[in-house]
Amino acid sequence: MSTTIKEVAKLAGVSVSTVSRVINNSGYVGEKTRKKIVDAMSELNFEPSSIARGLVSGKTSTIGLLLPDVANPFFAEVARGTEEAAIESGFTVILCNSNWDLEREKMYLNVLKGRGVEGVIIIGNRSPERDLIRTLSPVPCVFVDRKVTSDESYIYVDHEKGARIATEKLISIGCKRIAHVTGPRKSTSARARLSGYLKTMKKHGLETTVLQGNFRFSGGYEAAKKAFTSDCPPDGIFAGNDMMAIGVIQAANELGIRVPDDVSIVGYDDIDMAKCTSPSLTTVRQPANEMGRAAFSLFKNRVSEMKIEFDAKLVERKSTK
Ligand code: RIB
Repeated sequence: MSTTIKEVAKLAGVSVSTVSRVINNSGYVGEKTRKKIVDAMSELNFEPSSIARGLVSGKTSTIGLLLPDVANPFFAEVARGTEEAAIESGFTVILCNSNWDLEREKMYLNVLKGRGVEGVIIIGNRSPERDLIRTLSPVPCVFVDRKVTSDESYIYVDHEKGARIATEKLISIGCKRIAHVTGPRKSTSARARLSGYLKTMKKHGLETTVLQGNFRFSGGYEAAKKAFTSDCPPDGIFAGNDMMAIGVIQAANELGIRVPDDVSIVGYDDIDMAKCTSPSLTTVRQPANEMGRAAFSLFKNRVSEMKIEFDAKLVERKSTK
């Protein structure tokens, strides 16, 4: 266990801030006090790491990045945007993957605080914002992919509007039996997209079919297999994200259901893989890399209460008629 700055201060009989002035060679320290501190450091083999210096000065040039699923290309692309912008500004990034687990989110925020990060970019995730902000306080944070009611900054794409675009597209090409595969129940974006789907279907007087997914390939695949083998299979499916839409296409291909002749499919995110499915996936694009870069710039410029909204855009490919 490495020696802490507090143990040095205790042995030398001075305050942590006096030890920090010696470490950072900043501010006045009397010769006798300096000697006591230096003697204590050598007696305890204290190595003032850059983290130790940063913990005291508050300048570690490091930020945290918390995301719920590192295997999901959307989150990975947002993270890449943040990391690119951070490196360009001389910052390093500590990436934490919560795997949609509320306890793990909290654990990582405490770890990041202990490592002295100067801020945290929180992408998606499921804990209520007040819990996240309280755990992190006083470390500032920027939210991505969710609107917050507090005065923290956030980067957002209107999920309900994006869902409306996807559902309207399926209706416009003549689909009547349109099912929606949702993301995890506690995901704020999944709830908003479900709301957009339900409102749009109601506006057109169409019956709704909601299938529980999980924002992963497996969720789309399992939900679609059930829907396609039911008495009244859908002729259109809006999947709450591209990973699930890819699972839906796989299920259709395995069951000999033709896409888009028998069923049209729309996803959400426009990850790189959306171009490579067979047929290629029509989807609602979120500018993930730009969102990640914008999040870092809000942190770096210490802008609070800034809300940056990007537009959701339909990208038409071969999975819709
Ligand atoms: O693909 C993961 C989904 O969860 C994305 O659509 C993103 O908006 C996040 O909420």
